[in-house]
Amino acid sequence: MAVPLAEDPERIEVDLLLEAVYRRYAYDFRGYARSSLRRRLWRRAHEEQVATLSALQERVLHDPLVMERLLRDLSINVTEMFRDPNFFKALREKVVPILRTYPYVRVWNAGCSTGEETFSLAIVLAEEGLLDRSRIYATDINDDVLARARSGRFPLEKMKRYTENYVRAGGTGDFSRYYSVQGNEAVFAPSLVNGAVFAPHNLAQDGSFNEFQLVVCRNVLIYFGRPLQERVHDLFLDSLARFGVLALGHKESVIPSHEERYEVLDPMEKLYRRSR
Ligand SMILES: C[S@@+](CC[C@H](N)C(=O)[O-])C[C@H]1O[C@@H](n2cnc3c(N)ncnc32)[C@H](O)[C@@H]1O
Repeated sequence: MAVPLAEDPERIEVDLLLEAVYRRYAYDFRGYARSSLRRRLWRRAHEEQVATLSALQERVLHDPLVMERLLRDLSINVTEMFRDPNFFKALREKVVPILRTYPYVRVWNAGCSTGEETFSLAIVLAEEGLLDRSRIYATDINDDVLARARSGRFPLEKMKRYTENYVRAGGTGDFSRYYSVQGNEAVFAPSLVNGAVFAPHNLAQDGSFNEFQLVVCRNVLIYFGRPLQERVHDLFLDSLARFGVLALGHKESVIPSHEERYEVLDPMEKLYRRSR
């Protein structure tokens, strides 16, 4: 007698592996968008030389080093300084005037990766005379990238591109005054992030921790499935001061159920102002 087949086995394996990761290590990837997740799980399976995702699950459950490697695969840390220069230009032109109206500015840079975005934000605030009365909270799920962000050290070879981005973003000064050269690294002035806090925060699991005038979360939500995106959008709404600004990545938008809570400041650069 043929046994009836219900669900696709690979789908079950992905679910079980993510459940195992969550229950054993408390990292919750269950709500991440499936197609990119699946590719990354398979890449780790091949690297660990196992033939199925069930076998990968067994390795992950019993060997924390395999989990560390998987964690690296699952957190995509691609970033750059003044990424999408037009975004930073719009930030200067449309958001800075709003921030000026507050006596003190708290900025949450969620999913800050290795810190290039945080330093870019700090440079804009410094040039607009706001850095002294601002505090940036830069958070990420991944401790390794946070340590790199804190160090303010970026590859020297990237400075040509970052200088071009800075100029296209409306930067008027000499970009090289922000860093000194040590070997093959550009070491950014610690004064840019003196008041900043770099701390772990998991958007999938942690709650709101302050009230912010600006929340910048770019190129993070694209990796999340819909229910997780909704959770994070609720979190941002809970964390934004009234009339505070939410900045998302080019491929991200406010969810339909929150649209009436925001005024769109810039539809291309995904800048939204909380209206109530
Ligand atoms: C592609 S990078 C984006 C970096 C930067 N925001 C930018 O746009 O250049 C995505 C970052 O989100 C972080 N991330 C992924 N899942 C997260 C979560 N659940 N909570 C917090 N950060 C997360 C990753 O570790 C990674 O550093």
